[in-house]
Amino acid sequence: MAELSIRGVRKSFGETEVIRNVDLSVGNGEFVVFVGPSGCGKSTLLRMIAGLENVTSGTISIDGADVTHADPSKRGIAMVFQTYALYPHMTVEENMGFGLEMAGIPADERKRMVRRAAETLHLETYLARKPKQLSGGQRQRVAIGRAIVRDPKIFLFDEPLSNLDAELRVRMRIEIAKLHADLGATMIYVTHDQVEAMTLASRIVVLRDGRIEQVGTPLELYNNPDNQFVAGFIGSPKMNFVPARVTGRTEDGAVKLAVDSLGLAEFAVMPRERNATMPETLSIGIRPEHFLPPGTDGAMDVSLGLGAVEHLGGVSYIYTEPGRDGSLTAEVRGLPGLKAGGLLPLAVNPDTCLLFSTEGARL
Ligand SMILES: Nc1ncnc2c1ncn2[C@@H]1O[C@H](COP(=O)(O)OP(=O)(O)OP(=O)(O)O)[C@@H](O)[C@H]1O
Ligand SMILES: [Mg+2]
Repeated sequence: MAELSIRGVRKSFGETEVIRNVDLSVGNGEFVVFVGPSGCGKSTLLRMIAGLENVTSGTISIDGADVTHADPSKRGIAMVFQTYALYPHMTVEENMGFGLEMAGIPADERKRMVRRAAETLHLETYLARKPKQLSGGQRQRVAIGRAIVRDPKIFLFDEPLSNLDAELRVRMRIEIAKLHADLGATMIYVTHDQVEAMTLASRIVVLRDGRIEQVGTPLELYNNPDNQFVAGFIGSPKMNFVPARVTGRTEDGAVKLAVDSLGLAEFAVMPRERNATMPETLSIGIRPEHFLPPGTDGAMDVSLGLGAVEHLGGVSYIYTEPGRDGSLTAEVRGLPGLKAGGLLPLAVNPDTCLLFSTEGARL
């Protein structure tokens, strides 16, 4: 278990700066998940924490000790990669024990440590097999086992489940959550998977273009994003952004809006700061899952023109005809007979809506 502190960290490859002044503290036993678009710097930041990539400026400390320039083997960190990176000619036992052997741990003690990790991961019966005799999920467990045996202070995972099929991903996700609970270790985990991020993280770090956009618990980011980027990135399907004109304020400070694309002449949404000044035009953020049946108490009725419909079984996704302001997505339950074309009556509760400036700041 360990604390990690990243202060003013930057990284350039030649002229290109890919990590731009990152500050982050990770507490003892936390499970922190990095998300962000492809190329935003997630792997680079993780590799800098591991010591696999030089830091251009700034400091990285573990338990108060500056490790910015320390050798990877001296940091007490273990990293698990998407590609497993197992040695094909070694057995599971040898793969898991290899790092210990390099560290000069005697054979009998090594065996004991590998057995213990194998038990944790239910790999006891596979110890004599080579990687090619294992399924993808078993190989990934071996890669995790190789990390566990070293009893690291911090685990780093770079998209460890991306090569697995959907069902196995769910099983491994639950195992990783269990492992975190059992070991109580500090873990940092990179993923593209919304569900992994929301379910595993004690806190999510949203990165964009080498910078941290927001750090918070999954529900903080979902309910109270700082800006349009985070609002659009967290949640699937993505939040809708609907242009609106500001027509005034109510007595209690809500912003009165005219929303042409939803046919709403007056829709009052509370801004984040009650007294903040409002621009003339802005965007309303509405999550697809926040569309309600028409006539719902406290909600305003709207009707959406049906462009396309996808039935997923329990829920259906409605896509409106892309108009001047783009297409909207609504998630609805039931309505199995729904077909494209025509209008679908729904409702929106202003309390579930967020406001953003045209530059993407939260209002
Ligand atoms: N060795 C390198 N030399 C030059 N540029 C690099 C190098 N490694 C990474 N980059 C660049 O740094 C940026 C961040 O890359 P990184 O691999 O950290 O992204 P990522 O967020 O992990 O993306 P993905 O989700 O696709 O894995 C990218 O623009 C990438 O092209
Ligand atoms: Mg990456």
